[in-house]
Amino acid sequence: MEKLIIDGGYPLNGDIEISGAKNAAVAILPAAIMAGKGSCVIDNIPDISDTKCIERIIESLGAKVNRNNNTVTIDSTCIDSWDANTEDVRKMRASYYLIGALLGRFKKARVEMPGGCSIGVRPIDQHIKGFEALGAKVKIEHGAVVAEAEKLVGTNIYFDVVSVGATINVMLAATFAEGKTILENPAKEPHIVDVANFLNSMGADIKGAGTDEIKINGVKELKGCNYSVIPDQIEAGTYMMAAAACGGKVNVNNVIPKHLESISAKLIEMGVKITENGDSITVESSRDLKGVNVKTLPYPGFPTDIQQPMTTLLSISKGRSIVNESIWESRYKHVDELKKMGANIKVENNLAIIEGIENLSGAKVVATDLRAGAAMVIAGMIAKGITEISSIEHIDRGYPHIEEKFNNLGAKIKRVKID
Ligand code: EPU
Repeated sequence: MEKLIIDGGYPLNGDIEISGAKNAAVAILPAAIMAGKGSCVIDNIPDISDTKCIERIIESLGAKVNRNNNTVTIDSTCIDSWDANTEDVRKMRASYYLIGALLGRFKKARVEMPGGCSIGVRPIDQHIKGFEALGAKVKIEHGAVVAEAEKLVGTNIYFDVVSVGATINVMLAATFAEGKTILENPAKEPHIVDVANFLNSMGADIKGAGTDEIKINGVKELKGCNYSVIPDQIEAGTYMMAAAACGGKVNVNNVIPKHLESISAKLIEMGVKITENGDSITVESSRDLKGVNVKTLPYPGFPTDIQQPMTTLLSISKGRSIVNESIWESRYKHVDELKKMGANIKVENNLAIIEGIENLSGAKVVATDLRAGAAMVIAGMIAKGITEISSIEHIDRGYPHIEEKFNNLGAKIKRVKID
């Protein structure tokens, strides 16, 4: 086991390169198993434990997977199993994408119930609704989702809630359905568009991803392709929050500024200077910031995955801020940790009411989940004194080389082994 030890109080300055998007990569890797011919060569796969976990799962199904730095080559022609049942499957959320991918390709899938961050109830009823509408029979058996169909037939599917996972999963299965499928009320996150683009590169016929309606004309087979994953909107947003909180001037490079508009807008409202320049965003902050109200919403709204780092930033911003977490019911575990560092935050149901204080003070804290971990790293970097963060395996699930990247900007973070 490892922990991070942070000596806080240093501004951040310089350039940071953003890696490929975790939540696109963890869908694109399972989608690659739908190629019955040729290999997929996928670039810009972030070096994080979640992508490595998915790679092992795909291998356990019989695919050949080879990683060379950030490029992963997948030959799925020899997949001989539709049963995903390893410990890795149970560990991570995105393993649910194997249901759509296997059901599409083999008309049969058995996938152990997915795990993931503990941020509230995480139902998959909309995924199941979509599979059933396409003609599959779905049951939960001995802790696994079992889906089967004689054939999949395209149809209109209206999602009752906007769900990233359900939109992608049903899009995967519908790629191999006979005729046309229309997904209404889909999620529009950048990674939805990226997965659709990847499927189209393999030979799928998907239009409208990123809009209110996704139209999928079913195809009979997919083949390997070359593809590069988009930059990570959430990693970029986290570094923007960190630069704003620590003060200094940071160029956040290799980003798509459009994907970051809701984050940039809030930072500007707080008094941070944001400049866009091609595929780079410069964040300049004096640390003298004013509090704002934030409500998390599906894209293009403010992302829930940035709510936790944002709470840290607001804890040292002037005045009262109110955060409204509208996506997940239990995504405030980081607040108890921030309170150990002196933050003045009260949680009432899905609201966090924050009274800004001058500064945090270093303490021993826990990374209770992935984005909570990022929030604590930022807290440690701004706090007076030493902060120790344990359970950092959560952070390693989604942020490649986090201490190295922050140290390059002037932070003082050490990773140490513990018993
Ligand atoms: N929901 C349902 N029924 C469903 C599916 C979702 O009611 O069948 C509800 C959820 O309970 C939640 C809301 O719909 O209240 C949104 O859930 P969504 O399905 O969009 O979330 P997800 O696909 O499980 C992905 C990301 C999360 C991110 C959310 C929202 C992956 C692997 N995970 O989860 O990322 O918070 O979308 O943007 O893509 C993270 O990266 O830290 C993370 C948790």
